[in-house]
Parts: sequence; C-alpha cells; structure tokens
Amino acid sequence: MFKEYDIRAKEILKGMTLEEKIGQLNQSVLPGEDRLEEYKDKIRRGEIGSIILTTSATAGNDEQKAIVVEHLNSLQKTAMEESRVKIPMIYGRDVIHGHHTVYPIPLASAASFDPELVRQCYRCIAEDATSESTHWTFSPMLDLCRDPRWGRIIEGPGEDPYLASRMAEAYVKGFQGDDLSAPDSMVACAKHYVGYGFSEGGRDYHRTEISDYTLYNYVLPPFRAAVKAGAGTVMSSFNDINGEPVTSSKKYLTDILRGNLGFEGFVIADWFAVSQLKRQGLAEDMADCTRLALNAGLDMDMADEHYINTLRDLVLSGEVSMETLDEAVLRVLRVKLAAGLFDNPYVEAKKIDRAHHVALSEKLAAESMVLVKNDGVLPLRKDQTIVASSPFFDDRRLLHGSWALDGYLGASTPSLREALNEVVGQGGGTVYTCDYGIHDNSTYWLAHADTVLLLLGESHTVTGEARCRSDISLTPDQEAICRKAKATGKKVVGVIFCGRPLALESVEPYLDAILIAWHGGTRAAHAAIKTVFGDYNPSGRAPVTFVRRTGHIPLYYNVTSSGRPVDGYYGEHPEFCYTDSPASPLYPFGYGLSYTTFEYSDAKAERCEIGYEDIINGEKLKFTVKVKNTGDRAGKETAQIYIRDLKASYMRPLRELKGFKKIALEPGEEKEVTFELGYEELGFYLPDGSYTLERGLFEIYIGKDCLAGKSFEVFVK
Ligand code: GLC
Repeated sequence: MFKEYDIRAKEILKGMTLEEKIGQLNQSVLPGEDRLEEYKDKIRRGEIGSIILTTSATAGNDEQKAIVVEHLNSLQKTAMEESRVKIPMIYGRDVIHGHHTVYPIPLASAASFDPELVRQCYRCIAEDATSESTHWTFSPMLDLCRDPRWGRIIEGPGEDPYLASRMAEAYVKGFQGDDLSAPDSMVACAKHYVGYGFSEGGRDYHRTEISDYTLYNYVLPPFRAAVKAGAGTVMSSFNDINGEPVTSSKKYLTDILRGNLGFEGFVIADWFAVSQLKRQGLAEDMADCTRLALNAGLDMDMADEHYINTLRDLVLSGEVSMETLDEAVLRVLRVKLAAGLFDNPYVEAKKIDRAHHVALSEKLAAESMVLVKNDGVLPLRKDQTIVASSPFFDDRRLLHGSWALDGYLGASTPSLREALNEVVGQGGGTVYTCDYGIHDNSTYWLAHADTVLLLLGESHTVTGEARCRSDISLTPDQEAICRKAKATGKKVVGVIFCGRPLALESVEPYLDAILIAWHGGTRAAHAAIKTVFGDYNPSGRAPVTFVRRTGHIPLYYNVTSSGRPVDGYYGEHPEFCYTDSPASPLYPFGYGLSYTTFEYSDAKAERCEIGYEDIINGEKLKFTVKVKNTGDRAGKETAQIYIRDLKASYMRPLRELKGFKKIALEPGEEKEVTFELGYEELGFYLPDGSYTLERGLFEIYIGKDCLAGKSFEVFVK
C-alpha cells in the first residue's frame, strides 16, 4: 500500500541534504505561543518532520492545551513556503477514543462485539479531529492484557487475539477511511508494538517475558490485522521482551514487523523511549541510543530530540549508514504522500454534524454495557420511587474515561444526576438522590422506595497510563454502601463505571443486578440510565475475564491445558483450586445477559471431516445454528464459535474464539447463524513465526460465551 509512493518519495529524497533527512525523523513537541517564532527558524532549516500536539509525558492524564488551527496552519506555511525542500509536517495527537465527542473507552468498544458500529464511530472521530488539523492519531492501542491491575487495559481490546483483530481492523478503517488522502481521514498508529500489555505485575512500564510462541499466537495478531488493514504507522513500546528493549530490537522492529507482518509504513518511538535505552542499560549516551534505535528500524524519534542532535555525526562516522537513514526517511515520506499532505497541507476548520456524532457515541456506549447479574429486578420502571446513591453524580469528566484530551464537558456531557432525573421524570417516577451513601436521613425515602440504585465504580484517575491498582475491587466505602443498601431490604441495583474488569466478589451478594457501564464517553450517563430503565436492552459481552478477586490474576479463558485438571475448564476444580477460594472467573470471557432470553438449537455441521490439502486450498468447514429470542422484548445476542485443537506439536488453548455474530432478534424471532472455519482459523504459529495447520481432531463449541458446550468434533485428515 505505501510502497506505491516510492517513486515520488525517492525523487524528493534525492534532493535532500543530510540535515533535512534527519529533520524528517524528528518529532518535536509543540511549543508555547511565546516560542513560535524561534520554533519557525527550526522549521525553516528543515529540522522538524512532525509535531506532537501534546505537552506532557502522560497526555492521557494531564490537561492538554486545545488545538489552535491557525497556529498549526501558520507553522505548516513556514514549512511549505520558507524551507528549502518544502516538505509538509505531520501533526500527531492522542485521539484515542474521541475528540470533542468522546466515545466509550476502547475496552468498552471491544465489549460491544460490534466492529462495524465501532468503525462508524471512528470514522466520526476522524472527521472531528481532522477538522482541527490532526493528521495522525496515536491510536488504536492493541495491547492484549491479562492483568487488569494494569491501568492501560482501558485502552486495549481485552484478552483475546481474534476479537482484538476484528477491533483493530475497525479502528484502522474508521480512522483512515477508504481514502487516506481525504481531508477527513487520519493516519492510524498501531500501538504499542509490542507486548506492553504483558507488563509484569500489572505495573506500568515494567519488563515482560514473552516467548516467540506466545508472541505470534496471542500478542501479534491484532498488529497483523492492523497492518493488513493498512495502518500507516506503528508505535514502538517502552517495554523490553526477555531482556531486549523493543525500541532497539531489530528482531521485533524489522525482522518481525516488516519481514513477517509486511508493514510498509513508518515506526515512531513512544515518548522519550529512545532516551530510555540508557536507563535500560543498553546505551551509554544520546548517540548510542540513537544508533541502536535507528539501526533496529525505529524511524521517528518522539520528543527527546536524540535523532536531531546526534544523527549527523553518526552518519558521517558510518555508525549509521546513509542507506539506513534514507530507508527511514523514505518510509516517512511515503506516509506523508499517502496522507495527501503534500497536496493539502493546510486545514480549514469545518463544521461537523455533532448531533450525529453524539447519537453514535450513545449507541456504542449502550451496545458496550454488559449485564452480568440480574435476578429480574431490571429493567426498572420509570414510574417507580427510586433511592439512588453515587460518589459520581456530578462528575462529568469521569464519564469520558482516561485518554480523552479534547472531550467537551459541561452540558455537552450530561451528569448521572441529570440523566437520572430526566429519564425517571419521563415516567412520573421519583428519584431521591443521596450523595455518597445511604444516610439516615434517607429512611423516609427508603420506606417509600421500590428500589435502591447504586452508581459506583472507579474514577478515571485510577485508570490509564501510570495508573495501575494493586487491588481492583471496589473501595471499602463503596462496599459499605452496598452492604447498607442491602440491609434496607429493598432490591439493589449496581451500575459499575470502570476502566477495567473490577473484582466484584465482595459486593456481588448485596447486588440483585449488576450492569458494567465502563467509562462510556459523552453520553455515558444516558446510555447507562436508559439501560437501567429499559430504553436499551444490554447486549455487551465480557471482552476480558472478570476475576473474583485480585489474587486470581492472571486468569484468562484461552489458556492451555495443564497436565492435571487444574484449570478444570477455566480454573474450577475441587482439588486444584486455591485452598481459600474457587479459582474460576466471576464472569467469563464472552459472557453477558440480556433483558430477554435466547435459545440455541439445531446446530449443524456441513461435514465433520476435511482433507488437509482441501483446507490448504481454501475449502472451509461450515456450521449453522439457530438462535431464537424466547423472551418478550427485542434484544441482541452474540453467537460465538470456539475451537480446541486436541493434539498438536505445541500445546494449544482449551478454547480459542474463532468467530462471532451479533444478531438482533424481535420477541419470538429466530435466525440462522453461519460460521466458517478454514486454514486461517484452525492453524497456529510456530515459534519461528511460520504458520502451520496440523492434521487431527478439533472440538468445536458454539454458544453464548467461552463456556459453551461442545457442539462438534471435526477431523482434518
Ligand atoms: C505516552 C503513551 C503513548 C502516547 C504517547 C504520546 O507515554 O505511552 O501511548 O501515544 O506518550 O502522548
């Protein structure tokens, strides 16, 4: 995809000086307005190839300056009219899950199991952000994670490579559109390549141990999908893998990323990652950091100005060859050409259909909510008397979640209190809100209330970068609220606003219903409250395992079998659990309830045997199943298909998701769902990165989550 721009890129490259080439590999931090003139001199000298539109190391946590389009156009004008080579700069910003309209955190998007809806939403995000001259987003984040103590699990696609890959495609197609050079398309950045989500102990920036076998079969698939979908850039990750920092690893950045995945775009470092090679003990000084990173295949240096300050001498001394430098510059030029920046370097701020964006944001938030418990108390009626308590009634910012740099707040993001009063008011009901707890003065109301509604969870400030938690249960005061609510003798509903799958074992007994609402963005409050009162029927499914308690981490569904039945399936076995706790998940991967019920029937396999050569040549196994809505309200079910390769040259997981279909069904309606499994689905990667399919028996599981019973056995002969 990007190599088609090489002819023009090589023409431009031929006319560049050494200094101008180096400038293209330098991503500089946007200065304050007081330093714009001094900054323009650097641009005139061709020293700046890109500007990162953030001003701190943890942009997701800190207030960021709003974008001023006029300033960016003015800087770009300097590059296009006053520099010698007139190469446009590319502006990058962390547009992770929204711009002025904020969408659910990416982990919630994964819970929607609706890639097409996600793609539509990310098309809107691109339209929103490009209207303010952001050409390039540092998103999607594709780090698989099995440790929800890690704060950055919010940004990722959960624990499964298949779901993560479908989401990766949706994000890239959403951001980049059908034409990357269109004014409302932005260059995507698959990050953090690679393995950052396996950070030891769920602590950020920590080391990782990842075998090549795990890398190819679990960690790489979403990056492979993003590359295949045409992602223009990749961001290298802070972590080392088995003692080898990714930032200076030719194995990961060149051999695997370009050799095995076929990536043609350019690689940018994470914030100051090049300079961190010193602390990681690989490099002596700035020049050493640069030499190691560039020779490994890291094209652009983010913010620490190591390349711009040391590359000239390294090239003149031969420690970095001119060929290596040219290759890196060529890759940057390719992406700038593909993004249409040479032809359209400036941005005219344009109006967008905000109402459409907001409506889609609410739709995705509603589709991502996961109902994990319901004794029938939900949905509530709008004519009821409700006592509601929350620590977050008026916290608009929390609803956006972490990594929402430009989200409109104020009335644009209704609070929980506002949404609750509005929705219940529609039905003539009454809400008595007690901030932060069931106080004694609420006894009157409790006496008249039908239900207690608790809006709990975690603040966005304990999620995201450098925000890991050693205990992922609700806080003690929130647990106390649950107990007190239960003691009233009323039905108690818990809505959990979170950025990770919180450990809810300690409060589960007190709650008659639990809805996981995540941090759902601009319309999070309405999406959650309207779900509680039945305007939406929840259809999200768990994209990650919900452990009972923090001590069970890591626990994930696609685990290989032990030599003993220690994992039962997925942790439950009377003899081999912990001595103090069952080891099974509280809620398993793929799990979620609805306000209606669904029935699976008539599962059929077109055939249960297939020739090895036939499947290599593209033939597939075909399965059908009927799904019926057996309840009294419309709903959406996500039918899932899992496999188990029973015998192979390497241990294969007890379950692997290999397909899902989210279908809408009216009451009584039945639909037939079809799944096909072929070479792509039944094979796996060997440690050397080669893909293989081995003959033998496979079990097939079709159902509503990863605990679905066995449907078929098929034989590849
Ligand atoms: C941060 C993050 C990365 C982000 C970059 C720029 O440290 O690790 O995800 O894109 O810096 O803000």
